[in-house]
Amino acid sequence: MNAQASTRPLDIERIRADFPILQRTVRGGKPLVYLDSAATSQKPASVIEALAGFYRASNANIHRGIYELSEEASVLYEEARAKVARFIGAARAEEVVFVRNTTEAINLVARTWGATHLRPGDVVVTTILEHHSNIVPWQQLAAERGILVRFVDIDEDGRLRLDQLEQLLRTEPVKLVTVTHVSNALGTINPIPEIARLAHAAGALLLVDGAQSVPHLPVNVRELGADFLAFSGHKMLGPFGIGALWARYDLLASLPPFLGGGGMIRTVTTENFTPGDVPARFEAGTPSVADAVALGAAVDYLETIGMAAIRQHERALLAYALPRLEELPGIRLFGPVGEDRAGVISFTLGDVHPHDEAAILDQNGVAARAGHHCTQPLMRRLGVVATTRASFYLYNHEGDVDRLVEALEEARRVFGVAG
Ligand SMILES: Cc1ncc(COP(=O)(O)O)c(C=O)c1O
Repeated sequence: MNAQASTRPLDIERIRADFPILQRTVRGGKPLVYLDSAATSQKPASVIEALAGFYRASNANIHRGIYELSEEASVLYEEARAKVARFIGAARAEEVVFVRNTTEAINLVARTWGATHLRPGDVVVTTILEHHSNIVPWQQLAAERGILVRFVDIDEDGRLRLDQLEQLLRTEPVKLVTVTHVSNALGTINPIPEIARLAHAAGALLLVDGAQSVPHLPVNVRELGADFLAFSGHKMLGPFGIGALWARYDLLASLPPFLGGGGMIRTVTTENFTPGDVPARFEAGTPSVADAVALGAAVDYLETIGMAAIRQHERALLAYALPRLEELPGIRLFGPVGEDRAGVISFTLGDVHPHDEAAILDQNGVAARAGHHCTQPLMRRLGVVATTRASFYLYNHEGDVDRLVEALEEARRVFGVAG
């Protein structure tokens, strides 16, 4: 099925029935309202079954054994790679490197491309919106090799200051722009094709952190125009322990290996080794085979629903939730309002600490996150220590928003928040 074709409204009750965890209760019998999909998504039965089914029926190590089970496991693993590649519009399956998560994918780029292309004084441009995983690896390189890390700021609505990016690209030796597609804290959807055009015009490459976009929007690497795309399986209905890095084949083939060990070599002597082909070169050691297979099942599920329909659903939920939340006296909502906003809502309530707020939500069965969301520079920029964050996915419905609002009304009463 074409993932981008359908925008029919989702049959939410049918979808919810596919997610076993949504049938459970929490905190003494309250139905679970799961509003923390930006941290990790829930899993449909088909994904859980793919994981268990692999161990039940096909478990063997891959690419090594010359026996039926190993061949079968190898085929399943490579089929999963092909599914992920097709899902993001990659030209070929080999352009997808399996890693543990977005963090590992970004570190892979820093340690392979960064280590071979960056010289002291070179500039990596990131943004104040980034998750720590797209800041710290570059700071580590800065400490080791004397590169400089510059930050693009946001405006008052939480949108990137593209004028600052243009200025940096004009005036500094920028070799890489590394930016999140969707902010996990504000929901801002950044204009990646435009950023790609600006970066490339200045001779820089573009890394896109797709942790919050690949699960929620139709993402096609050719349309994005990025050079690297990193994302995590666990945020897109897949299991923990599997994620992907995409890059064009030629670019990957020009890079040295990441970790050294079994699986990534062509030959080894007592003196030296020659690296294997792409993508094996970047997949040292026994990979997360069952997790990859289950990620393939997650992709199947998302494609059956359709990414355009999922995006449309989250947009509708946002349109329902934002005005209702705005009515709560004392609330401060962060992030842009418009088409460039994903299903993530960060807020504070009076001067209640977000952890206290989230505790009241929890007592009401509402699972939402409170904290800095691994975006401490952004929190500092916003002048807060933390926010409470509700994030949506395809299995959320308006009833979840109603429960969130009710619980926040209770928090207002408990903490005496005035308007
Ligand atoms: C925008 C963004 N980037 C990167 C990450 C890191 O993902 P992982 O912990 O799966 O490596 C996250 C996780 O919350 C994220 O939201």
